Order: sequence, then structure tokens, then C-alpha cells
Amino acid sequence: MITSISCHAILLWCGSFLLFSSFFTPTINANETDRLALLAIKTQLQDQRGVTSSWNNSVKLCQWRGITCGRRHQRVTVLDLSYQSIRGRLSPYIGNLSFLRSIYLDGNSLYGEIPQEIGRLSRLQILVLANNSFSFNIPSNLSRCSKLTDFVADYNHLVGLIPPEFGYLLKLERLHILNNHLTGELPASIGNLSALQRIDLQENNLKGRIPDSLGRLRKLYYLSVHSNNYSGMVPPSIYNISSLESLSLSRNAFTGNIPLNIGFTLPNLKVFRNYDNNFTGPLPDSFSNALKLVEFDVAENSFIGKLSIDFSAFKNLSWLQVATNLLGTGEANDLEFLTSLTNCSKLELLAFYQNQFGGVLPSSIANLSTTLTFLVFTENQISGSIPPGIANLFRLDRIAMDVNQLSGTIPHGVSQLKKLQILYLNDNNLQGSIPTSLGNLTLLYHLDLGSNFLHGNIPSSLGNCQNLIMLSVSSNKFTGSVPQEILGITTLSTYLGLYDNLLSGPFPSEVGNLKNLVFLNVSKNNFSGKIPDSIGGCTSLESLSMKDNSFNGNIPFSMISLRSIKKLDLSSNNLSGQIPKFLENLSFLEYLNLSVNQFEGEVPTKGIFSNTTEFSITGNEKLCGGLDELHLPSCQSKGSKKLKITLLKVLIPVIGSCLIVSACFILVLTRKRKSGNLSQMEEQYPRVSYAELSKATNEFSSSNMIGRGSYGTVYKGILREMGMLVAVKVQSYAKRGLD
Ligand SMILES: *[C@@H]1O[C@H](CO)[C@@H](O)[C@H](O)[C@H]1NC(C)=O
Ligand SMILES: *[C@@H]1O[C@H](CO)[C@@H](O)[C@H](O)[C@H]1NC(C)=O
Ligand SMILES: *[C@@H]1O[C@H](CO)[C@@H](O)[C@H](O)[C@H]1NC(C)=O
Ligand SMILES: *[C@@H]1O[C@H](CO)[C@@H](O)[C@H](O)[C@H]1NC(C)=O
Ligand SMILES: *[C@@H]1O[C@H](CO)[C@@H](O)[C@H](O)[C@H]1NC(C)=O
Ligand SMILES: *[C@@H]1O[C@H](CO)[C@@H](O)[C@H](O)[C@H]1NC(C)=O
Ligand SMILES: *[C@@H]1O[C@H](CO)[C@@H](O)[C@H](O)[C@H]1NC(C)=O
Ligand SMILES: *[C@@H]1O[C@H](CO)[C@@H](O)[C@H](O)[C@H]1NC(C)=O
Ligand SMILES: *[C@@H]1O[C@H](CO)[C@@H](O)[C@H](O)[C@H]1NC(C)=O
Ligand SMILES: *[C@@H]1O[C@H](CO)[C@@H](O)[C@H](O)[C@H]1NC(C)=O
Ligand SMILES: *[C@@H]1O[C@H](CO)[C@@H](O)[C@H](O)[C@H]1NC(C)=O
Ligand SMILES: *[C@@H]1O[C@H](CO)[C@@H](O)[C@H](O)[C@H]1NC(C)=O
Repeated sequence: MITSISCHAILLWCGSFLLFSSFFTPTINANETDRLALLAIKTQLQDQRGVTSSWNNSVKLCQWRGITCGRRHQRVTVLDLSYQSIRGRLSPYIGNLSFLRSIYLDGNSLYGEIPQEIGRLSRLQILVLANNSFSFNIPSNLSRCSKLTDFVADYNHLVGLIPPEFGYLLKLERLHILNNHLTGELPASIGNLSALQRIDLQENNLKGRIPDSLGRLRKLYYLSVHSNNYSGMVPPSIYNISSLESLSLSRNAFTGNIPLNIGFTLPNLKVFRNYDNNFTGPLPDSFSNALKLVEFDVAENSFIGKLSIDFSAFKNLSWLQVATNLLGTGEANDLEFLTSLTNCSKLELLAFYQNQFGGVLPSSIANLSTTLTFLVFTENQISGSIPPGIANLFRLDRIAMDVNQLSGTIPHGVSQLKKLQILYLNDNNLQGSIPTSLGNLTLLYHLDLGSNFLHGNIPSSLGNCQNLIMLSVSSNKFTGSVPQEILGITTLSTYLGLYDNLLSGPFPSEVGNLKNLVFLNVSKNNFSGKIPDSIGGCTSLESLSMKDNSFNGNIPFSMISLRSIKKLDLSSNNLSGQIPKFLENLSFLEYLNLSVNQFEGEVPTKGIFSNTTEFSITGNEKLCGGLDELHLPSCQSKGSKKLKITLLKVLIPVIGSCLIVSACFILVLTRKRKSGNLSQMEEQYPRVSYAELSKATNEFSSSNMIGRGSYGTVYKGILREMGMLVAVKVQSYAKRGLD
């Protein structure tokens, strides 16, 4: 028995020796296989920087750039060509580099397939292909790389399914395929990969449910399916992965409630990013236990009810975003949670806009961390005044409290927030005047104070805010004139709203400085005087409303320069003169309102004037012509045929008038009034004074003479008051026997 065992052992030993040597024989040339494989890979690459130029016969394989060899066997173990601007395809020869443990090809322009031959690399642990242009499916053969710990293929154009065979990669720790075009469901087999620590699938087209099996991954600390097409409930098992530090479910269509005990089952959570889903129900109070939270974002869901998470022990919270939900009860203590936030010394962003929070803004916001840069609670029902202590939060660059019920005055302290870039206080019940010191906020680029009850002058100091691109003070009770300083803010571009106030005086000609301004609305004020000629300087204007003021005079010719104008509203003023023809040529114009003014003369017919739904001229008594649909009297100055008819029409009354005029003279001269005849004639024909006739015919100048005969001389002329072309016959006194 003993001999036979030893004999077996000897045979076994011999066998392995033979096996060993037969295995060893080719390894003498094995590095030759590596060399040939790399040279084959090189032929497929366009390598502008010449990284692979050392891959040649005069350099030893293990000294080639980007190559690391094993010390003992001199075989290639690492291929590292990260961020080398290399273009081309990855050759299947890579599958011959059988000692490879790590492949780093990220940050190049590699395209085509990921070669399935990589599946032959049984020693491979790390495969990094991120930031390339690989397309097609992920080869299922990769699942044969049983030692793989890191699969990183972010930012490529991979399509199709995540191979279910990945369930065999039992050593896998990192599965990163973010930003590709993957479809289908995440295979349940992934739940077998008990070593998994990070799964990043964000920005793909994955759909269906997250597999329940993921709940088995006890080492998982990072899971992101952000921005996919997931729907339905998140399996409860996910909320049971107590190792989770970062959970991103955002931008999907998940439904259902969040388990009430989440703060106890996920005590290690640092990032809870859950915005833009269809979650319902309350935000569980148990979050108060997730003390490590840094980012908490549940915006754009349908969470409802009082927000009663106690944040006071969150030492690291920096981002709190609960906007666009149904949170809050509208009751007085709705904002208690703000007081608990005063202990969060790293808070940077606080956003709870578009909810149902009521109550007053607690004065404790003065004690929020000075690290805060972003404070936004637009569209709630918050009342009370703005606590002056807000001035402490000197790093704030954005404050948006608009569309609430805030009252009281704008605290002067706001002017101490030197870093402020955006200040929205519009649509509240604020009173008092604008603090002059607001002009100290020189970094401001959006300032909206509209729709409040603010009064007084608009302070000229606002002209110091030389970065403003949007300024609105509309719908308040501001009085006085518009300070020219404001019109010197040449950065103003998106919006200047002054409408619906009690502003008066002429509109300053400095408006012409605003070359970048797109939207200007000064309507519903008491502005008077002429529209400044300089308005033509606002060459970027797309929308200009000056309606409901007392502007007078003509539409300035300079407006011909408003090449981008789409909407122009000059209605309800005292503007007069002709409607300028150039309006026909403003090719982007799609809305023109000139109604309720004193325009006169002919209405143009081209451009904007060719479509009656796009312009309005009603309430101007002295207009004529235009499209037939307007039913305006025709203008006599049009066309030669019309002229003749008009001549005939007019000649008779005019001759008549001449007779009247002459008759008047006679009557006046002879002082023999025959009133009966005269009044009869008055009813039939318009009365025209001699002065008017003289003016119409350019003082009976010879250039206006159109005929002369024994009856006398005929002049053409234009009666401006009536807009009539007339012929005036002057009879010789002698013939009429005036002697
Ligand atoms: C081989 O590579 C080395 C190092 O980059 C270079 O100096 C040499 O010119 C190359 N030889 C050939 C034949 O390309
Ligand atoms: C291959 O390895 C042998 C010994 O390990 C070495 O002498 C030879 O130079 C290597 N060949 C290349 C191309 O590096
Ligand atoms: C290497 O890989 C290529 C392509 O996959 C194959 O054709 C070749 O036979 C392999 N073996 C050697 C020793 O080059
Ligand atoms: C891919 O895997 C299949 C079996 O899973 C095998 O038949 C095939 O040869 C593999 N392809 C390569 C290139 O290794
Ligand atoms: C890919 O590029 C992005 C930026 O485009 C960068 O943030 C990321 O770290 C890169 N990933 C890898 C693995 O190189
Ligand atoms: C892997 O996961 C699938 C689906 O969850 C399961 O059916 C299979 O038995 C698992 N395989 C192993 C080896 O655990
Ligand atoms: C969560 O974990 C606990 C214990 O670790 C277990 O009893 C419970 O069944 C798990 N729940 C789910 C939904 O997996
Ligand atoms: C808030 O901070 C203060 C001072 O650091 C500390 O005494 C207090 O216990 C904290 N509150 C909570 C609930 O952690
Ligand atoms: C701010 O905190 C200090 C110190 O904790 C406290 O005395 C003060 O009352 C707080 N102020 C407000 C407005 O809550
Ligand atoms: C702030 O503005 C006011 C009024 O415009 C001015 O008197 C004051 O000096 C300014 N303060 C600072 C610190 O700039
Ligand atoms: C300008 O303001 C008035 C209110 O006075 C408003 O009705 C009108 O729509 C505004 N014009 C434009 C173009 O927004
Ligand atoms: C007139 O303008 C309206 C609205 O812009 C448009 O719907 C309609 O088609 C236009 N009609 C003509 C005849 O161009």
C-alpha cells in the first residue's frame, strides 16, 4: 500500500514536472507574444503625441512607454495609456497579453467595440475604458475575467443590456457604466456580487425595477441610478443596505413612500439625492438619525406634510434641498426646522421654494451658518418681516424670497451682503422705500423688487450696480423721475421693468445707452414729453412697451434701428403725426399696438400692417387707408384714378367754397348780409378759410397752378386739416363784375 502511494506520488511529481516544463518552454518566447500583441495594438492607433513611438525593436519590451512588466517573468502586467489623445480601435490582440492585471485606456478617443478577447485575460483585475467613444454592446465574455474588481466604462456610447453574465464577476467591487446608452433592466444576478462597493449606472436608459437582490450587497456604499427610466417602487431591501453612504435615485419615475425608519436602517447616509421622482407621503422624521448627511435633496416630488426633521445634530450638512413638493401645513410653526439648522456649521445651500410653508420667517435665520451662499424659498405662504439679522449671512450670493406674503420694509442690512448676485423680493407685501445703500451691492446681476407696495424715488445709487442684467421695480408706487444713472448700467440686457408705478417726467434720453437691452416695459406710469430719439440706440430691443403714459409727439424716426423688435406697444398715449412707413420693414415685428393716440394720415399696408390680427390702431380718429378690413376712409392722395375722382368730387365743393369765400368778401365789403343763403351753403359744403386755402396752395404759387382760362386760375392744394387734395379756382374779380 505504502509503495503504491509513493509510486503514485512520484508519478504525480514527474507529471507536474513534465507539465511545468512543457508550460515553461513557450514562456521563453512568451514575451514575444506580448511584443507582437502590443505592436498589433499599435497599428490600430493614431497616436499624435507619439506615446507608442518607443514601442519598437530597438527598445526592450519592458521599457516601452505605458507598459509595466512583472519583475520575475518579464510579462506585461499593466497597460496604461490614460489621457494620451490616442484615437483608433482597440485591437483584439489585447486578449493575448495574458499576464495583464490592469488596463487603463481612459480619456482617449477609442471607438468601435470593446474586444471580447479581453475575456481571455484571466488575471485581469482593473479595466478602465472611461471617457472614450466605445460603442456596441458590452461583451458578455468579460464575465470570464473572474478576478475583475473594477469595471469602469463611464462616458462611452455603449448600448444594449448589462450582460447578466456579470453575475459571475464575484470579485467585482466597482461597476461604473455611467453616461452610456444602456437599455433594459439591471440583471438580478448583480445581487450575487457580494464584494460590490460602488454601482454607478447614472445617465443611461435603464428601465423597470431595481432588482430586489441588490439588498444582499452588504458592502455597497455607493449606488446611483440617477437619470434613467426607472419606475415603480424602490424595493424595500435597498433601504436595508446599512453600508450605503450615497444613494442617488434622482431623475427617474419612482413612486411610493420612503420607509419611515430609513434614518435607522441607513445610518451612514451622507448623500441622499432623490430629486425629480414621484415619491409621495411624508419625509420621515427618522432622517434626524442620519447624522452624517452632507447632501439631502428631495426636490420635485410630492412629499407632503410638516417638515419636522431635526437637523440640529447634522454637523456636516451642506446642501438641503426640499423644493417643489407639498411640504408645510401653512401654519405658524412650519419653519421651526430652520431653527434646528442653526447648528449646521457647514450649510451652504438651503432651498425650500415651491411648497406650502406658512408662518413667519424665524429671526433665528440670523444664526444660520455664515457658510450659507444660497437661500431660496420662492412661492410659499411665508409672512412676517424679513429678519434684519439676515445681514449676518455675509457669504450669501443668492436670496430669493419672491412670491410670499412678506411685509415690512427691506432691511438696510441686506446692503451688507456684498457677495449678493441675485436678490428676488418681488410679489410680496413689502412697504417703505428702497434703501439707498442697496447700490453698494455691486455684484448684483438680478434685482427684482416688483409687485410690492414700495414707494418713494428709485434711488440713483442703484446706478452703482454696474453688473445688473435684470432690474425690475414694476407694480409698486414709485414716484419721481427715472434716475439717468440707472440707464447708465450698460450691462442691463435681459429685462428692465418700470411699469405700473407713478413715475413721471420725460423719459431720460440716456436710455439709448442700453445697447444690450432686450426687454423694456415702462407702461402704466405718468411719463410725458416726446419718446426720446435716443431710443434708436437700444438696438437689441425685442419688446418695448410704453403704453398708458402721456407721451406726445411723433414716433421718432430713430426707431428704424430697432431691428430686432418683436413687440411694440405705444398705445394709450398722446402720440401724433403719421404712422411711419419704416414700421413695415421691421421684419421681426409680430405685435404692434398704436391704438388710442392721435395718429393721422395713411395706415401702411405692408409688413406688420398686412395682417390685422397682429396690429391695432383703433382709437385714432384721423387715420385713413390701410387694409380694407380696417374700414377706414380712403386717403385721397392715392393712385391717379383716385386722384381724378377726388378732383371731380372735390372740385365742386371747393369751387363752391371759393364762391363762399368770395361771397364772404363781397358780403363783408358791402356789409349787406344775406344770412339765409349763406347758412344753406354752409350745410352743403365744408367751410374753408382764405388762410387755409392760401396755405393749401402754397400761397397760390405758380408751381401749384394746374390751369388758367377766361374763368380764372385753378390751383391744386392739400387741405391738411381734412386730409383732402383740392383744386382751388380763383375767379377774376373783373369777370364777376365786382365793381
Ligand atoms: C524607438 O524608440 C525610441 C524611444 O522612443 C526612439 O528614440 C527611437 O528613435 C525609436 N526607433 C525607431 C526605429 O523608431
Ligand atoms: C524576453 O525575455 C527575455 C528573458 O526573460 C529577455 O532576455 C528578452 O530581452 C525579452 N524580450 C523582449 C522583447 O523584451
Ligand atoms: C493573438 O491574437 C490574435 C487575434 O485575437 C490571434 O489571431 C493570434 O493567433 C493570437 N496569438 C498569438 C500568439 O499572437
Ligand atoms: C467568448 O465566450 C464564448 C463562450 O462563452 C467562447 O466560445 C468564445 O470563444 C469567447 N470569445 C473569445 C474571443 O474568447
Ligand atoms: C471622465 O471625464 C470627466 C469629465 O469629462 C471626469 O470628471 C471624469 O473623472 C473622467 N473619468 C475618468 C475615469 O477618466
Ligand atoms: C445569482 O443570482 C441569480 C439571480 O439573483 C440566482 O438565480 C443565481 O442562483 C445566483 N447564482 C449564484 C452562483 O449565486
Ligand atoms: C432588513 O434587514 C433586517 C435585518 O437585517 C431583516 O430582518 C429584514 O427582513 C430586512 N428587510 C428587507 C426588506 O430586506
Ligand atoms: C447645537 O450646537 C450646540 C453648540 O455646539 C450644542 O451645545 C447643542 O447640543 C447642539 N444641539 C444638538 C441638538 O446637537
Ligand atoms: C443666536 O444665537 C445666540 C447664541 O446661541 C442667541 O443668544 C441668540 O438669541 C440667537 N439669535 C436668534 C435671533 O435666534
Ligand atoms: C453704502 O451706500 C451708502 C449710500 O449709498 C453709502 O453712504 C455708504 O458709504 C456705502 N457703504 C459702503 C460700505 O460702501
Ligand atoms: C408691460 O406691462 C404691462 C403692465 O403695465 C403688461 O400688461 C404688459 O403685458 C407688459 N408688456 C409686455 C410686453 O410684457
Ligand atoms: C396673421 O397673424 C396670425 C397671428 O400671428 C396668424 O395666425 C395668421 O396666420 C396670420 N394671417 C395671415 C394671413 O398671415
